[in-house]
Amino acid sequence: MLLCAWTGAHAQQLPVYLDDSKPVEQRIEDALSRMTLDEKIAVIHAQSKFSAPGVKRLGFPDLWTTDGPHGIRPDVLWDEWEQAGQTNDSCVAFPALTCLAASWNPAMARLYGESLGEEALYRGKHVLLGPGVNINRTPLNGRNFEYMGEDPFLASQMVAPYVQGVQSNGVASCVKHYALNNDEENRFNVNVVVSDRALHEIYLPAFKAAVQQGGAWAIMGSYNLYKNEHCCHNATLLNKILKHDWQFDGVVVSDWGGTHDTEQAIKNGLDMEFGSWTNGLTEGASNAYDSYHLALPYKKLIQQGKYSVKELDDKVRRVLRLYYRTTMKKNKPVGFLCSESHYDAALRIAEEGIVLLKNERGLLPLKQGKRILVVGENAIKMMTVGGGSSSLKAQKEILPLDAFAAQCSTDYARGYVGDTVQSYNGVKVGRSLYDMRTPSELIAEAVEKAKQADYVVFFGGLNKSDYQDSEGHDRKDYALPYGQNAVIEAILKVNPRLVFVNISGNAVEMPWASKVPAIVQGWFIGSESGEALVNVLLGKVNPSGKLPFSWYKQLADCGAHALGTYPGTWRSGVRIIDEEYKEGVFVGYRWLEKQNIKPLFAFGHGLSYTTFAMNCQAWRDMGNGQYQFDVKVKNTGKCAGAEVVQLYIADKECSVERPKKELKAFAKVFLQPGESKVVTLTIGREALSFYDEAVHDWRAEAGTFEALIGNASDNISDKITFKLKD
Ligand code: BGC
Repeated sequence: MLLCAWTGAHAQQLPVYLDDSKPVEQRIEDALSRMTLDEKIAVIHAQSKFSAPGVKRLGFPDLWTTDGPHGIRPDVLWDEWEQAGQTNDSCVAFPALTCLAASWNPAMARLYGESLGEEALYRGKHVLLGPGVNINRTPLNGRNFEYMGEDPFLASQMVAPYVQGVQSNGVASCVKHYALNNDEENRFNVNVVVSDRALHEIYLPAFKAAVQQGGAWAIMGSYNLYKNEHCCHNATLLNKILKHDWQFDGVVVSDWGGTHDTEQAIKNGLDMEFGSWTNGLTEGASNAYDSYHLALPYKKLIQQGKYSVKELDDKVRRVLRLYYRTTMKKNKPVGFLCSESHYDAALRIAEEGIVLLKNERGLLPLKQGKRILVVGENAIKMMTVGGGSSSLKAQKEILPLDAFAAQCSTDYARGYVGDTVQSYNGVKVGRSLYDMRTPSELIAEAVEKAKQADYVVFFGGLNKSDYQDSEGHDRKDYALPYGQNAVIEAILKVNPRLVFVNISGNAVEMPWASKVPAIVQGWFIGSESGEALVNVLLGKVNPSGKLPFSWYKQLADCGAHALGTYPGTWRSGVRIIDEEYKEGVFVGYRWLEKQNIKPLFAFGHGLSYTTFAMNCQAWRDMGNGQYQFDVKVKNTGKCAGAEVVQLYIADKECSVERPKKELKAFAKVFLQPGESKVVTLTIGREALSFYDEAVHDWRAEAGTFEALIGNASDNISDKITFKLKD
């Protein structure tokens, strides 16, 4: 290849674009000046399902993307979604992003990103399609499991280190789906109508943090529309907010098939087009990718003089910048796949994210040496397979039943039959789920066995099938599927020592919650799921996860549903459904607190096997809108554990209606029994600000504020009142 000719004695003749000693921007301009129109057009659209060509003549290799966001997806065929049938593309499945968010530990996000980046490197991928940071607006959204919860501050704090971790390996993180892709049903047709204030306060902060704090090198446009323009080529979101206001210097990638209009794609900030549905392959075009909006149609418009190369050069500059950050990066590590360190990371993140929602009569941790009856399909069902583009070919997935059987005297009853499909997109699940028994036979077996058991541990919840926690559709209702409630009620009658472990990325209705003494949120936690769950249930690990979203008692308690704004209203005569976010900034706990509705479990809630005392010992006005709070946390119980100090701000005098409180700082503190530590939480003026629609900017109004400190949004132990002066 070219490079060899330029080494040694000829080093001084290196062209600028290949010369490492030159500033990157200069190299980009040099490369750009050498590219033909065809080469420029080629690099801004796909050449296969997941790759785009580099510039071979100049020595720029192909660029490979991959899903994302929980592991490195198995390879598919060049032009098809079908598996390529490789034998070297198994991966470690990391916990779903809801679990990562529930750890409330940015160090876990960094570890996650680094580990995933190493897996991507080994597999020869340059752009990881993740993480997802769309806000959980309704628990029906099929893709909430791929996102980081309902709170913009929590998601912002977790996304930045994830991005930095991935990119520390020279792999780009492509943050998705920008923006307002908060439900899946009709995702190509939904036009979101939202106030500027809610857009900036709720839906954009995590993307902004990914760009400005995380330094993301790529961002993926979403399928839906905003202001009647598809978000993959949306003038407001891309040109104005992302590229102008936030100064994003990376690449905007379309979601797969999210590009619909050549001229909008040219003008409105899209840089690379992927996954468009051309049917050239079946209709005989020599290369269907030539029909992409940013391929021959764009070239024609330039040749006809409708467009100069101004927009094209801007796109190509960004793509070249991405090359220098990834494919052209010098001294990149080689990465590794399925290493012990990656399994270890997956286990640690899972263990930190599991949330102990309820634990009455000290039922948990389970005492050793007892007879345990495991019930439920989710104890034997692989959850790394299914759910859409995040589906993985995990090298291993430890199932809860197997993990239990390895450690305790365990019996099993199926309880219910959900989805018994054996494979997804060519990846087979390990164990047959086939069972022909009727629901009453299954319940009868579970009840009989429950009578003999010391504890019943029920693994239920949702799964990755269509209309559950899965891409492309939303859940049809909030209730548990497959008749699980009937099984739970029947077991309770014979054995009240029941632990319900909910496997899902979303909250579910729990009409029996007051009768079940112990409830655990187990998420979809990947390769080490059984191990992590059983470690928590047996007390080998003390749970420290906190909910990243509100757990509504009923669907009507959620703002989007209370106001009847979901899923929207079809316009007559056009395939557009308007979804108006009428609840504005009042999403999740912000809505619940405004309406004085108690959730089943509050945002930020999560129990431990030990106890903690927390109090704010001192606080300081640092001037210029900055405040510091010293919070002492003591482990007052008998085992080591971790507590999350959460600081919420309440604006007591404001010209606009503000939420009763909003999360603005947090810290996770690890403590031995009897140990105490003081953590200092700092907030700045931005923590006191709201987005002022009149001036199109953030503004903190002078007046009284409260800092509310506690270990959950519904458990505040300290209130500090302070005044912001003009
Ligand atoms: C999903 C993206 C994904 C892409 C490629 C799309 O359908 O929305 O999240 O990265 O497919 O698989």
